[in-house]
Amino acid sequence: MSSDSVATDRRQRLEPAELRRQVERLGPWFHNLNLRGVETAPDHPLGNFLEQMWWHVQQYLPEDMTGMRALDIGCNAGFYSQQLRRRGAKVLGVDHDEHYLTQARFAAAVEGLDIEFRRMDVYELDQLPTAFDYVLFMGVFYHLRHPLLGLDKVARLVRKRLIFQSMIRGGPERAAVPVDAPITERAMFEAPGFPCMYFIENRYAGDPTNWWVPNEAGMEAMLRSAGMRLLAHPFTEMWICEPAGAPA
Ligand SMILES: C[S@@+](CC[C@H](N)C(=O)[O-])C[C@H]1O[C@@H](n2cnc3c(N)ncnc32)[C@H](O)[C@@H]1O
Repeated sequence: MSSDSVATDRRQRLEPAELRRQVERLGPWFHNLNLRGVETAPDHPLGNFLEQMWWHVQQYLPEDMTGMRALDIGCNAGFYSQQLRRRGAKVLGVDHDEHYLTQARFAAAVEGLDIEFRRMDVYELDQLPTAFDYVLFMGVFYHLRHPLLGLDKVARLVRKRLIFQSMIRGGPERAAVPVDAPITERAMFEAPGFPCMYFIENRYAGDPTNWWVPNEAGMEAMLRSAGMRLLAHPFTEMWICEPAGAPA
């Protein structure tokens, strides 16, 4: 489906000055969207990170997603929701922050994109009755105080692919971990690449919602443990997964 046919003529038509005023009124923005020439966060400290992420993500999505259902978890102002919709998918974007959902609804209306945005916490995702062909779970995992609880709920909603991204720290090693070990075994915990997650008691990067930051081995182990098979690892922070069966 072409981007023209999903961006219907229900576009909210605002004069440029009014569009700029509304964008300002709805700030601050985390997503730097280009709304018909008006950038929502041109001075973002992470620069054009969305474009860099999207460069990877789009390689794992079908060009034509017509007839597919996609879920964008922690959708923020809806950058990925919009991209999925432009490919023809029926999209649900969820976030627990009404501030961002208001931005997402406004931006989608400006672009004339028919996307459902719903206020929902990751921990409530098991209330959704059916699975989604594509699930994007990007930039949220490390914000969860109960990350495995959240990941288990997310994993159950994936029909075809999970596109996952998290903040990652520690080295790139993967230690060979035995299926079982005697309680006297202590050395393996010291090995570089033993799966682990760093707990942030106070703040990291000034953000009190950065709770747990895994290393690469730890993230892969948790994705597998949640029932995912790892298909690709485009860069340090991102994994493309498919369901492997029931969670451990
Ligand atoms: C770092 S932003 C990432 C936004 C977007 N997914 C991306 O990758 O650009 C984290 C987003 O997740 C949302 N979020 C954090 N914890 C959440 C939770 N427990 N349930 C739902 N949304 C959550 C935040 O409100 C925010 O919009």
